[in-house]
Amino acid sequence: MISSKLKIKYNDLCNKLIEANTHYYELDNPILDDASYDKLMIELQLIEKTNSSIVRNDSPSLTVGGVVEKVFDAVEHIPPMLSLGNVFNFIELKEFDAKCLRSLHDTTKIEYMAELKYDGLAVEVIYKDGIYFQASTRGNGILGEDVTNNVSTIKNLPLRLKGDFPKFLSIRGEVFMNKKDFLELNIKRKNSGEEIFANPRNAAAGSLRQLDPKKTAERPLDIVFYNYGQISDGFNIKSQSDLFEFFRQFDIPISKFLVKGDLENISSFYNEWNENRFKLDFDIDGLVIKVNDFSLRDELGETSKVPKWATAWKFPAEVAVTKLEDVHFQIGRTGLVTPVAVLSPVNIGGVVVSRATLHNFKEIEKLNVKIGDIVRVKRAGDVIPKITGVDSTTNNGREIVVPLVCPECSAELLKEDIYIRCINSNCKGTKIEKLKFFVSKSGIDIEFFGPELVVRLFEAGIVKSISDFFNLNLEKLLLVDRMGEILANKILSSIEKRKVVTLSFFLKSLGIRNIGDHVAKILAKEIGSLENGLSVTEDELLEIHEIGPSVAKSFVDYFNDNENLKVLDELKLYNFVVKDEINNISKNSKIFGKVFVLTGTLKNYKRSEIKKIIESNGGRVSSSVSKNTDYLIAGGSVGSKFAKATKLDIEIFDEKKFEKFLEEL
Ligand code: IVH
Repeated sequence: MISSKLKIKYNDLCNKLIEANTHYYELDNPILDDASYDKLMIELQLIEKTNSSIVRNDSPSLTVGGVVEKVFDAVEHIPPMLSLGNVFNFIELKEFDAKCLRSLHDTTKIEYMAELKYDGLAVEVIYKDGIYFQASTRGNGILGEDVTNNVSTIKNLPLRLKGDFPKFLSIRGEVFMNKKDFLELNIKRKNSGEEIFANPRNAAAGSLRQLDPKKTAERPLDIVFYNYGQISDGFNIKSQSDLFEFFRQFDIPISKFLVKGDLENISSFYNEWNENRFKLDFDIDGLVIKVNDFSLRDELGETSKVPKWATAWKFPAEVAVTKLEDVHFQIGRTGLVTPVAVLSPVNIGGVVVSRATLHNFKEIEKLNVKIGDIVRVKRAGDVIPKITGVDSTTNNGREIVVPLVCPECSAELLKEDIYIRCINSNCKGTKIEKLKFFVSKSGIDIEFFGPELVVRLFEAGIVKSISDFFNLNLEKLLLVDRMGEILANKILSSIEKRKVVTLSFFLKSLGIRNIGDHVAKILAKEIGSLENGLSVTEDELLEIHEIGPSVAKSFVDYFNDNENLKVLDELKLYNFVVKDEINNISKNSKIFGKVFVLTGTLKNYKRSEIKKIIESNGGRVSSSVSKNTDYLIAGGSVGSKFAKATKLDIEIFDEKKFEKFLEEL
């Protein structure tokens, strides 16, 4: 018999890890550092090991390192679901307005729509021929998860549109839970020994991702819509206010609290809600301010991530006071040692915080903080908790001592301005962090390979360098505690999938200091092949546009290091192939002779870059869609070109698909 106390503890761990995964993988906003994540994961696994009947089928342990196993199908968002920029005060809002005005040369004043910013989960809902067809979560903005059956249980969502509806309609909104419903749900859960949700947002998220839609149906979810993806022809929607009218006509739920007007109107709307938001029956974390007129929006466009025609005006961050218990020193993959505050756990706006970043040693000096002090901690929506100041200090506080030696390998640390760094190339901590990075999503992206598995393989002496990943086999993996054959095989097949990569992909995966995604692409394009990379000099690299001395030095240092060269040789031995970056025109290429049209904004490429890639492969870029067009490459927020291409049945690529297409070349 499993005690209810253990069950609660277990559910608590599961939920914490799931939440951490979501923040890390989907929201790009980690709430736990690796060490705390691993600690929780080990605790969870220990419970599961001794109580196998307790294991939840959504347990994060089944997905090593938190790559959530795909139980929901992926759904593509066309156009991508963007996120929003932020302003925090009226001055910043005025700057946002001024920027819009500058872009729209001949406009004197812009009319805005201000809406409440619901603190829930963004979803896209599709109607075909007026009938509810599909719903998906936002996911990473490009791909979300299919939650059609779950969303269909939300009571105020129409499943059939009445009247003159468009043939195709995709709309976007927020699923949330009312505070009253949330409290009732938690009481019920508490009484039945289930873990309670930390806040309405978590409750809504948990409810939406239920595997059994019947369970979702029992949860009191609510939905409002505030945006659209695509609307088929024949509907004259010219502004956000038109859009709300359009929604109203079909009983598509929208917010009751909207205001249209100029900056002054919006400012008073903000003040009103900043004061009264707690009186609302649902959580909001600010306002969303949007340019009302759609033709102005088209002119303003968007960046890779956010529209230029909208911004969130956030309410002030939530602050709490708690005790600074200790300071740990954490090592990163480039050897950087950062101080991390260990706090007495404190609830800030519904989330329990027990760690905060202290950034660097200058920051500690500036804060004049000692261990034992009561500190102010801020959690500002989208950032890791931060210590903003000392609230009160005792006389017996302990000084935070800047370490002289590396916490992992005891080598002497190097002081670089406000940072300290371990430069021992044999440092165990740095090595592990590098390996963790290599397998992660930002690295070469080996599915099912989490940070904790890296540590275990390293400790067992099985993986000591990146080449060792490609020499893994079932036997070796099964040596790892708790590793089952099914998972091991999944891991091996995802490793197999990464055995052939392009030079740019390989370079960014190495986690070389100063060489991220963007720089890796530039370098690869110029260098062409790994062989060339091995012999290139700093001076040659400096001739490349956008490449500065620190990148050049990092690159050359890396490829001159004997240890690294040995690893490259080993990689070859294990049939790992780094493909040359595409430079020469091949008539066999899928691009050769094809006509492309570009629309919307892309994340990783400038239009000029895409054009260059296409042209260097013998393709052509045209400015308008016609029946001669072969492919449309569509970025965020697309317009008439998209509609036309759909009509003409032209193959459409989003950025991801286009990148895949390139990789296949
Ligand atoms: S508009 C491109 N309107 O805020 C336009 N978003 O931080 C983007 N949100 O992912 C969305 N209330 O989940 C918009 N009235 C509202 C909103 C809203 C909440 C959420 C949405 C979005 C996030 C961006």
